[in-house]
Amino acid sequence: MTEMVPLHVAPPAAIEALLDAAFGQDRHQKTAYRLRSGSQPIEKLSFALLQDQQPIACIQCWAVGIGPARLLLVGPVAVHPDRQNEGHGSRLMTQMLSKAQEIGDPPMVMIGDAEYYGRFGFSAAATAGWEMPGPWERHRLLARNPAGHALPATGMLERADAL
Ligand SMILES: CC(C)(COP(=O)(O)OP(=O)(O)OC[C@H]1O[C@@H](n2cnc3c(N)ncnc32)[C@H](O)[C@@H]1OP(=O)(O)O)[C@@H](O)C(=O)NCCC(=O)NCCS
Repeated sequence: MTEMVPLHVAPPAAIEALLDAAFGQDRHQKTAYRLRSGSQPIEKLSFALLQDQQPIACIQCWAVGIGPARLLLVGPVAVHPDRQNEGHGSRLMTQMLSKAQEIGDPPMVMIGDAEYYGRFGFSAAATAGWEMPGPWERHRLLARNPAGHALPATGMLERADAL
């Protein structure tokens, strides 16, 4: 039996170990980490799935900007390698999207596989002119904006203090 809890309820060291297991210990070199550096995850949009008090999966969301627009940076979304393809990633995404809808469905950006995140409305269509503060694979820079918020066609993604 798994339990969805706010991310801060999960032991921080266990979340770090989960992220290492899902993404490798060199994950801090990723450009997404530069975007999140110095920020805290948005509490009401960040969750963990616990089993026997231990996190088996988690999702974190952050504020970023591009020009005057503010977006939700989604990720990392991490499921422990022993527990992948059991629906945990989908459950976390669905929970986050439901809570995001309650605050006006802000535009979202993430780095991930369109083959997976497409089912949640993400695509690389809007991000062709966006830049990142470090290396990234353009086809994996995905956005989701069902509410049609104004977004620049070009610009540099950067960290932001709030949505
Ligand atoms: C990517 C991730 C979040 C998906 O969560 P999950 O709980 O394993 O997946 P779910 O159970 O929700 O969904 C399973 C389905 O997604 C597909 N899927 C899983 N990861 C995928 C990926 N990276 N690309 C394409 N499809 C993927 C599975 O094949 C399965 O398809 P089906 O529904 O047709 O059978 C998780 O596997 C993970 O943390 N992976 C490690 C990090 C990683 O590799 N990230 C790469 C993408 S950012």
